[in-house]
Amino acid sequence: MTLPTYPESYWLATASMPGFGKLDRDLETDIVIVGGGITGITTAYLLAKEGRRVVLVTAGKLLNGTTGYTTAKLTAQHDLIYDEYIGHFGEEKAKRYYDANMDGLQFIRKLAEEEGIDCDLVKEDAFIYTNDDWKVQTIEREYQAYERLGIPGSLEKSIPLPVPSLRAVVMKGQARFHPVPYLKHLAESFVRMGGVVYEDTTVDKVEELGDGSVQVTAEEGRTIACRDAVSCSHFPIPDSAFYFARLHAESSYAIAARAPGEGELPRGMYLSADKPNRSVRAITYGGEKLLLIGGESHKVGQKEPGFKHYEALEEFARTAFGATDIVYRWSAQDFETTDKLPYVGRVAKDKLHIYTATGFRKWGMTTSVVAARILTDNILSRNNPYADLYDPSRFHADPDLATLAKENVNVAGKLIGGKLEWLRRKPEDLGPDEGGSVRVRGRRAGAYRAPDGELFVVDTTCRHMGCEVEWNDGDRTWDCPCHGSRYTYRGEVIEGPAKKDLERLR
Ligand SMILES: Cc1cc2nc3c(=O)[nH]c(=O)nc-3n(C[C@H](O)[C@H](O)[C@H](O)COP(=O)(O)OP(=O)(O)OC[C@H]3O[C@@H](n4cnc5c(N)ncnc54)[C@H](O)[C@@H]3O)c2cc1C
Ligand code: FES
Repeated sequence: MTLPTYPESYWLATASMPGFGKLDRDLETDIVIVGGGITGITTAYLLAKEGRRVVLVTAGKLLNGTTGYTTAKLTAQHDLIYDEYIGHFGEEKAKRYYDANMDGLQFIRKLAEEEGIDCDLVKEDAFIYTNDDWKVQTIEREYQAYERLGIPGSLEKSIPLPVPSLRAVVMKGQARFHPVPYLKHLAESFVRMGGVVYEDTTVDKVEELGDGSVQVTAEEGRTIACRDAVSCSHFPIPDSAFYFARLHAESSYAIAARAPGEGELPRGMYLSADKPNRSVRAITYGGEKLLLIGGESHKVGQKEPGFKHYEALEEFARTAFGATDIVYRWSAQDFETTDKLPYVGRVAKDKLHIYTATGFRKWGMTTSVVAARILTDNILSRNNPYADLYDPSRFHADPDLATLAKENVNVAGKLIGGKLEWLRRKPEDLGPDEGGSVRVRGRRAGAYRAPDGELFVVDTTCRHMGCEVEWNDGDRTWDCPCHGSRYTYRGEVIEGPAKKDLERLR
């Protein structure tokens, strides 16, 4: 089985974003947005449209976070959730969740149409299917939930894909797109409206000062004084409301494969409800037709070797669709909240001018628009019909409590278990392109030997809260099992909540 050497997202490889400089002086503005993914860019765009002075700062380049590594289905079919939401939150809230996401989808569709954005936006139905006898009832209950909520859909005995299935629930009138040209258009419009973007600028602190203003402090002590700040940084800054205990990070993998033949690509977007999960959609951008297959979800840093997940997806593409040519592969992660509803609004009850949007559960394409609209309305003191549903200060006893307890036991186990782990392997035992935990001077460390023999040794203590990071040989990264921080093999942070690099050891 041959895999490309390094992961590369189809989206970032086939379309590019404009480039911007680094924050190099102190500033003053109305609003600072932290985070250059779909949520940050959409929020910045909407606020600039309202005539506000907005500065967007992001670590690394625009779209280097999860947005650049998504599968870009635009849908309100966020897995099997409607039956569960009715049970936990009631019919009215479950319906509002659907409406909010359909509004989000409609916003993207309308903007792309009106402004002629060439982003491969294609209308498709969304399917969730099972081939497991035990899951048939679950699918049927989900369809009944659609009927109760008035969601246009159907219940099917099979799906039009060459994979076995017993039952499927279909949500009508959804879509797929290429996020980069769409967000490029938004970013350029933002700048035309007077917005300012700084890349390669990691924010360390966002704090309210005594006089009611907000100060955003970036690397090298650069500050931006503002009235409001919004953390669209995946993990909220500041974590002043125990987000580390209320969020967990899930990884997923994707591959893009050459389709077997012109015109044979499946219509529709598919997601299996079985384990291991599979997601299927087509890409038809720039004359190219590819099959995009995703799945193999697991908690960050808590599963078997990463390359096995890519191999499993490739095997599926080959057996089900006859695909042989795997042209792109990538992985990314997204946060999930304890009650499965995202957090959008004030970061904490006592922070009047600091906001966040996170916990999208791998469904951030439409949710980012919902979030951007809520945040815009919050900042402009306007009502929003969905604000209370997503309010981070909500607390749903069921299922929050049970999940919260489970997450914290899991994290405590990783904090203690990782430290006590006894390792025999030493850095010199590693072969070319091999990495893993090793023992250095009697303590645990992490090492990776590059193909040319160079050895990179890091302290495996995560710079967020001290859990031990784990080696991911699929992407050659160090991943933290506690709250999802990720680092390159050199130790450079590529995904928060950690803001500092792992310590390099000699
Ligand atoms: C494999 C996979 C497939 C998915 N498929 C779908 C799909 O089909 N449909 C769907 O709706 N959703 C999907 N999702 C989810 C969706 O992609 C995400 O929810 C969405 O991209 C999140 O966008 P965001 O802007 O909130 O975060 P991100 O895109 O992660 O952006 C966060 C930004 O914040 C920056 N940042 C972080 N910390 C700091 C700091 N301290 N200072 C400055 N900047 C900082 C990062 O550099 C990054 O630019 C998928 C997710 C995964 C992992
Ligand atoms: S991400 Fe929290 S300890 Fe590593």
